[in-house]
Amino acid sequence: MAEPLLRLEGVRKSYGVGTPAETEVLHGVNLQLEAGAFIALMGPSGSGKSTLLNIIGLLDRASRGKLFLQGRDTGQLDDAELTRLRGHSIGFVFQYHHLISAFTALENVMMPMLLDRGRANAAMRARALDLLDKVGLAQWAGNRAFHLSGGQQQRVAIARALAQSPPLVLADEPTGNLDSHAADDVFRLMRNVSRESDTAFLLVTHSLELARRCDSIVTLVDGRISRPA
Ligand SMILES: Nc1ncnc2c1ncn2[C@@H]1O[C@H](COP(=O)(O)OP(=O)(O)O)[C@@H](O)[C@H]1O
Ligand SMILES: [Mg+2]
Repeated sequence: MAEPLLRLEGVRKSYGVGTPAETEVLHGVNLQLEAGAFIALMGPSGSGKSTLLNIIGLLDRASRGKLFLQGRDTGQLDDAELTRLRGHSIGFVFQYHHLISAFTALENVMMPMLLDRGRANAAMRARALDLLDKVGLAQWAGNRAFHLSGGQQQRVAIARALAQSPPLVLADEPTGNLDSHAADDVFRLMRNVSRESDTAFLLVTHSLELARRCDSIVTLVDGRISRPA
């Protein structure tokens, strides 16, 4: 059988290791994600959703267990290799967009390409414009991020997340800060991008209404994936 895009085996995470405050917050998570899948991650506050996303996003390491990305055992990689893999394989969208507010929409979308390749060139600019067009913001390319609405900023963040054509986008409550109309727009945009470019999304949301429009729902409760009865 073909290797899934992402596979977690018995992932555990403890914070404060070696201190009296040591606590395990993920207790053996098993999870598989197929290429192009669009999955909701739900669960109460404090259940470990962001911790899990940070581990999947190679921003933090599991304390125990294994994480395979495109068949590679990421536990075997050093920090520099993880950083490179993250840059090419994973896009991030957060609740607060984390755009550089004094930069234009175009400059923000170019940022991941700049970090990867060092200096701007015409191809990067064209790629960024293309992505802004895809998220419906081509005419806003030259506007500074702080002049854009919340929904527009989140669209720029999505375009930026797609800059390196990653097979996986991790979105931590990307619509949590938006009114329901803008949330719906941003959700539909992500859904379309996923379908068109076969990009997998793992989307943390508190909205059951949005979650039901995903391919499936994964629920975390107290650091464990809760299986439907
Ligand atoms: N850096 C950290 N250090 C210590 N505890 C943490 C840290 N980050 C999260 N936690 C704890 O881990 C648990 C899960 O948190 P989190 O992953 O943020 O949950 P969620 O995103 O589902 O709200 C919570 O009890 C939280 O307090
Ligand atoms: Mg969280």
